[in-house]
Amino acid sequence: MARVERHFVCQACGAVGSRWAGRCDSCGGWNTIVEEAAARETAPKGLGAKRGRRLDFVALDGPGEPLVRLETGIAELDRVFGGGLIPGSAALVAGDPGIGKSTLLLQAAAGLAAKGLPCAYVSGEEGVEQIRLRANRLGLGGAPVALAAATSLRDILTGLEAITPPPVAVIVDSIQTLFLDSLDSAPGTVAQVRAAAHELIRFAKRSGAALLIVGHVTKEGMIAGPKVLEHMVDTVIYFEGERGHQFRIVRAIKNRFGPTDEIGVFEMTGAGLKEVSNPSALFLPADRAAVSGTAIFAGIEGTRPLLVEIQALVVSAPPGSPRRTVVGWDSGRLAMVLAVLEARAGLAFGGYDVFLNVAGGLRIEEPAADLAVAAALVSARTEIPLDAKAVIFGEIGLSGEVRPVAQAAARLKEAEKLGFERALAPRDAAAAGSGLVIETLARVDELVERLGPALPAARRSGAVTPRNRPDRHG
Ligand code: TYD
Ligand code: MG
Repeated sequence: MARVERHFVCQACGAVGSRWAGRCDSCGGWNTIVEEAAARETAPKGLGAKRGRRLDFVALDGPGEPLVRLETGIAELDRVFGGGLIPGSAALVAGDPGIGKSTLLLQAAAGLAAKGLPCAYVSGEEGVEQIRLRANRLGLGGAPVALAAATSLRDILTGLEAITPPPVAVIVDSIQTLFLDSLDSAPGTVAQVRAAAHELIRFAKRSGAALLIVGHVTKEGMIAGPKVLEHMVDTVIYFEGERGHQFRIVRAIKNRFGPTDEIGVFEMTGAGLKEVSNPSALFLPADRAAVSGTAIFAGIEGTRPLLVEIQALVVSAPPGSPRRTVVGWDSGRLAMVLAVLEARAGLAFGGYDVFLNVAGGLRIEEPAADLAVAAALVSARTEIPLDAKAVIFGEIGLSGEVRPVAQAAARLKEAEKLGFERALAPRDAAAAGSGLVIETLARVDELVERLGPALPAARRSGAVTPRNRPDRHG
C-alpha cells in the first residue's frame, strides 16, 4: 500500500517539513506549522540534453524606456512609492486589520480614475454594496473605478482581462481571501497565498498594470506567508498606526523603484484618510508646558524633518529587577543609553523603573534620537524640566561621546519654522547656520551637568535610593 505523503508548511516562513512540530526549525516561530495538501510535484529530472533558446546578452547601458510613474494624486502615498506607481510592478500593502488599507487604496484608485486612468478594485472581503457605501461616504462615488467582489483567482483574472480599456492599476483586497481551485489548501495558507500572488504578478507583468495587493498582518506583526510574498513583489508598504490614535503612517520596507526611508502621514477622519503634510505639528502637542521627562527630538524621516516629543518616566522601583518599558523606540538602544549615562555620567537608574514613550504612536529608528532620549531620561530622573523652546538631537557612542548626525541643517530649519529657539546638538551643528541658539555637546556628561545641578556629584552614583533621593530643589 502506498503511503500518503504528509506535508507540513510553516505559515510564517514557508519552510516545508514531513512532520508537525510546535516550533519551526527554520524561523523559530511557534505554532506556525500547518498541514497542507502536498502540491503534486513530479520528481526533478534535470534538463537532459535538449538545448534551450539562446539568450541575447546586452550591454549594461543602452536605450531604456523612461520610467513612467502613475501618480495617485495622494502625495503622501506617491512619495513613499518613490513618486508614483510603476506600471507592471507589484506592491504589497500590509497592515493590521482595520488600520485603513481598503480605505487608502479605494482613495488611490479613485485618484487615478479621476485623472482618466482606468482602475480596477477587486475585493474578496467586502461585498460590492459595502464598498459602494464607503465610496459614497468618502465622496468618491462618481469615480470611474471598475469594482468587483470575488475570491476565485480564475474568475478574477478572466474578469480583469475582459475590462476595456485595460486597467492601469489593479487593487486586490486581500491576498488572504483568494484561492486557486487547482490547489486543495484553504485560502490564506502559504500555498494559496504564494500561488495567488504568483498568478497576479504574472498578470501584472503581462498586462502592464500596476498591481497593489493587500495583505493582513497577524498579531505578531507578520504577514501570513510573509517571507514568500515579500520576495515576490517589487515593493512592500507597511501601513501602521495605533488604533487609539487617528493618524496612520505608510512606510516602504522594500522598494525596487524608490527609497525605503520615506514615510507618508495620514489622519483617519470621518471622511477617509486625510494627508498630513506637516506632521511635526501633529506629533507635537499644541500648548506645551515645560514638564520634566519630555524632550523634543528633531528627527528626519526619509527626506522630511519631523519633530517628535520623547517622554520618559523614572519612578523608584521595588527591590528586584526594575522595569524597562519602551514604546516607539528600540529597547536595546534604551538599555545602551541607560548604561552610558551610568558609566560615563555617573547617573544610575538601577533602583528605578524606566518608561520611555515616543508621543503620538510614532516609531523612531534613527540613532540620532539617542541624545533626546538621554535628555528625557535625565530630566525625568532629576525632575528638572528641559527648556520647552529647545530641540535636541545627536547620537551617543559607548564612550559617552556625542556624535554628529546627518542633515543637521534640515533639523534646525524645521525647529525654527515651528517656533523653537534653542537646540542641544552635536558640535558640528554650530556650522549648520540657523536662527536658533545652538548649544553644542561633546559628551553626554555635559548634558547631565546642564540638567542635573540638583544632583550632587556624589549622589549621582548607584548609591541613590528612593529615600535619600535629593528633591528637585535640594
Ligand atoms: P479599512 O480601510 O476597512 O481597514 P482595513 O482594510 O485595513 O482592514 O478601515 C477600517 C477602519 O477605518 C474602520 O475602523 C473605520 C475607519 N474609517 C473611518 O474612520 N473613516 C472612514 O471614512 C472610513 C472609510 C473608515
Ligand atoms: Mg479591508
